[in-house]
Amino acid sequence: MEFQFGIPSHVTFGRGSVKKVGEVLEEFNAKKVLCVYDQGVKQAGIVGQVITYLKAKKIEVVEFANVVPNPPDTILEEGAELAVKEQVEAIVAVGGGSPIDAAKAINVLITNPGPIHQYEGLNLVKNPTKPLIAIPTTAGTGSEVTAVSVITDTAGEKKMVIGGRHCGADVALVDPDLTIGLPPAVTAATGMDALTHAIESYVSKLASVPSDVNALKAVELIYKNLAEAYKNGSNIEARTNMLLGSMMAAYAFNSALLGLVHAIAHPLSVYCGLPHGVANACMLPDVMEYNARDEKVQKRFRDIAQAMGISVEGLSDKEAADQAVAAVRELSQSINIPSLEEAGVKREQFEQLAEATLNEEISIMVNPRDVTEQEVVKLLELAYSTKKAGV
Ligand SMILES: NC(=O)c1ccc[n+]([C@@H]2O[C@H](COP(=O)([O-])OP(=O)(O)OC[C@H]3O[C@@H](n4cnc5c(N)ncnc54)[C@H](O)[C@@H]3O)[C@@H](O)[C@H]2O)c1
Ligand SMILES: [Zn+2]
Repeated sequence: MEFQFGIPSHVTFGRGSVKKVGEVLEEFNAKKVLCVYDQGVKQAGIVGQVITYLKAKKIEVVEFANVVPNPPDTILEEGAELAVKEQVEAIVAVGGGSPIDAAKAINVLITNPGPIHQYEGLNLVKNPTKPLIAIPTTAGTGSEVTAVSVITDTAGEKKMVIGGRHCGADVALVDPDLTIGLPPAVTAATGMDALTHAIESYVSKLASVPSDVNALKAVELIYKNLAEAYKNGSNIEARTNMLLGSMMAAYAFNSALLGLVHAIAHPLSVYCGLPHGVANACMLPDVMEYNARDEKVQKRFRDIAQAMGISVEGLSDKEAADQAVAAVRELSQSINIPSLEEAGVKREQFEQLAEATLNEEISIMVNPRDVTEQEVVKLLELAYSTKKAGV
């Protein structure tokens, strides 16, 4: 048996854990911080809360509010220059994957020369970075615990993954109360992203015992709580389970990596502007069906069906796998995930999307089945129109 497994962040999980942000920074002896966020989290009142806790500990705050979804490389230098000019001693990232990933990349550029593109890949960042505290406000990416930052390369028209040493957060304050106000559509899309992480890492060629344990528990938590969190956003138990599930899915994919769903989702964000979660959610059921044509994958999907609470006794692996796919399709419909057509994707873009998908080398490499451009076009075609579960 051979595997690699590791997580960069120390986690404090639970209601009210955000209140510890000042205390944690005191432990790092940081008296001035760069707070990285986007307008949505500010409007939700979360940034104000965090700044209050920081000021209560007499920590000076420099704000960087320029993050947008699928954060582009173009904002990073500005963030790093501000941090250097203001001589901040630590970074606090508040938000979903976009602000957390932007903060990770800004942090790299504070102590390492730019441009950021030279660090695309694994373990290419050489100089240690400043302490980074991540405070997630979506139950989706799990970026608060991964050693990965995903940045849009605007000139190269692709998503870059910068990962490995010095790329993660040091501390994650994971507080379910911060996700209570997440709008239903964002809850649905980010939750399906987390489910995709769990499923893709479980069938990945790099899956290991520790990633499997986390992936299956994540499937259970997310599958059993997403519809409730979507319908009844103030249900704290559902929100807590979603945040735990998204975090555990990230424990799994940080080592096992992802697969074909993400390989297609990245170009869908770059070329069609789809939010990351929507792009994954649109593709997940059809890609599962594609992967499930492999007998080994059917066995793995049997475990996933079981983790979802489906009784698989007496079913063949194929039947159990079909049930897992049908359950994901049904969940997706119950939380109003759009078809690609409804999300604004045009058929004329399929060839370009398929070509870019095959360039997502890492995800393609670890996906359990090989794929050609033609097969990707077929998958896009399938996800283009809404289908009823089981059809
Ligand atoms: N680093 C990783 O490990 C990793 C993994 C998967 C995806 N990603 C990346 O993360 C990004 C997506 O992150 P995301 O899905 O969390 O979305 P996001 O951070 O882009 O946020 C989506 C929207 O929700 C709003 N929002 C966030 N929290 C809110 C709250 N509590 N209340 C109200 N509004 C809120 C934001 O303002 C934004 O408009 C993509 O760029 C993706 O590629 C990173
Ligand atoms: Zn994702």
